Amino acid sequence: MKQELIQCALTHGRRFVRYGKPASYIPELASKDPSKLGIAVCDMEGNVITAGDCKEKFSMQSISKVMALILALEQNGFDNVFSKVGMEPTGDAFNSMVRLDHLINNKPFNPMINAGAIAVTSTIRGATLEERKEACLACARKLTGNPDLGVDYEVFLSESETGFRNRAIIYLMRSNGIIEGNCEEHLELYFLMCALACNCRDLAFFAATLANNGVSPMTGERLIQPRVVRLVRSLMVTCGMYDYSGEFAATVGMPSKSGVGGGIISCAIGKYGIATYGPSLDDKGNSIGGLKMLEYLSDNMGLSIF
Ligand code: DON
Repeated sequence: MKQELIQCALTHGRRFVRYGKPASYIPELASKDPSKLGIAVCDMEGNVITAGDCKEKFSMQSISKVMALILALEQNGFDNVFSKVGMEPTGDAFNSMVRLDHLINNKPFNPMINAGAIAVTSTIRGATLEERKEACLACARKLTGNPDLGVDYEVFLSESETGFRNRAIIYLMRSNGIIEGNCEEHLELYFLMCALACNCRDLAFFAATLANNGVSPMTGERLIQPRVVRLVRSLMVTCGMYDYSGEFAATVGMPSKSGVGGGIISCAIGKYGIATYGPSLDDKGNSIGGLKMLEYLSDNMGLSIF
């Protein structure tokens, strides 16, 4: 991919950022500058090109749901994880509770919505909460290729103090037998993953590893098993953009995952890992500028898998 092309994508995306606003239900996110927009693209040789505000740090939020799923599958295997969560899209908002209490088996629909990700996170193992946190951090560092990746504790605290809806979700699942053990500890782990601080480059490496069938384009090392990659990419296509996943498949057509911190990762399979950042969100919680840049690149380079 050429530098000029991502610069054009950026110019295109910038036209739309004024139509949204940063997430405010996590108070710490509300003060982010909505005019920021950046992009990084990593090819299968590990070369990275960037444009715009690509050095800005932001919290991964729901993009970490993909990492939590990869770690949980590695630790527990498919049967165990999918005894707690399904694989079907909901068409509902990411934090919706409406389907949680009248489901077959009471399972949340998929690992990309809050309820499903919380259920997945509850299976992440370790002798203590500290060990479980270390396992999550080590996994995120491995998948981004960034040994210095850390947590934005202000975002973490802000969400811990105000995450009443996620509390309601986990306690409902606890009463329905989906969640076992200490709910507050599971939530702490979930909020910690959401508060992982990254930039576009970190996430472009992660997306490129998924695009490269689980092999790091930087080191050539296998980081994710092929079966896990296939599953994760398929869930990203069907559920990764929440209740915009259908239209996103039609307009962009790449396995992708968004977060309310403003990030989106996207995989052009066998070609590129793409990460965008723009904290101005639409009413579904997806970055407006990010969506527009991805649409532009998909159209101009024929990146849709469909
Ligand atoms: O649990 C939450 O609501 C946030 N920590 C993550 C939600 C999110 O990123 C949804 N994304 N579009």
